Amino acid sequence: MSQFRVEDAVAMDALGVQLGRALSTAVVVYLTGELGAGKTTLVRGVLRGLGFTGRVRSPTYTLMEGYEFPGRVFHHLDLYRIRDAGELEFLGVRELDAADRWVFVEWPERGVGDLPPPDLELKFELRDAGRRVGLNARSEQGRKLAAAWRTLVKAAAVPGLAGLE
Ligand SMILES: Nc1ncnc2c1ncn2[C@@H]1O[C@H](COP(=O)(O)OP(=O)(O)OP(=O)(O)O)[C@@H](O)[C@H]1O
Ligand SMILES: [Mg+2]
Repeated sequence: MSQFRVEDAVAMDALGVQLGRALSTAVVVYLTGELGAGKTTLVRGVLRGLGFTGRVRSPTYTLMEGYEFPGRVFHHLDLYRIRDAGELEFLGVRELDAADRWVFVEWPERGVGDLPPPDLELKFELRDAGRRVGLNARSEQGRKLAAAWRTLVKAAAVPGLAGLE
């Protein structure tokens, strides 16, 4: 599994911006890692990379937030506070695998069986004062996205952000 070393929150935001720039086809991305690992920080960067300039709220209590882009909808889920399968059904997560969506899910382990399968899994880990983000591509689309992302990150040469094998 390849990884990024991300030394601070500014670098995490920059990593997200490059992922947003790499997005094209519809994909499902799972973000795993403990509370405070940097998942929402990355998603905020992704939305900025897509050109969104408004405020990005963490879906901690709403469970799901949506953002409209030309021809695509971006869904940001945080399932940490999900209580039962009925709530997932109410959110309509089973319909999220349509071809016109980008779906980013924090705490996907709480939605097992109901969520669409991931194209890319990102595993966040605390390391010293910073973070590591591991990449696990689970489909051809996910592999393409990961490759495009790594190329953009390298070209951006952001301080405190490095790709590792
Ligand atoms: N690479 C990093 N190094 C150090 N601090 C970071 C890094 N990335 C994010 N942070 C900081 O970690 C804190 C928590 O980040 P964030 O809210 O993104 O975590 P999260 O994984 O979404 O947590 P939760 O599971 O509670 O939703 C924030 O203060 C953020 O600025
Ligand atoms: Mg979060």
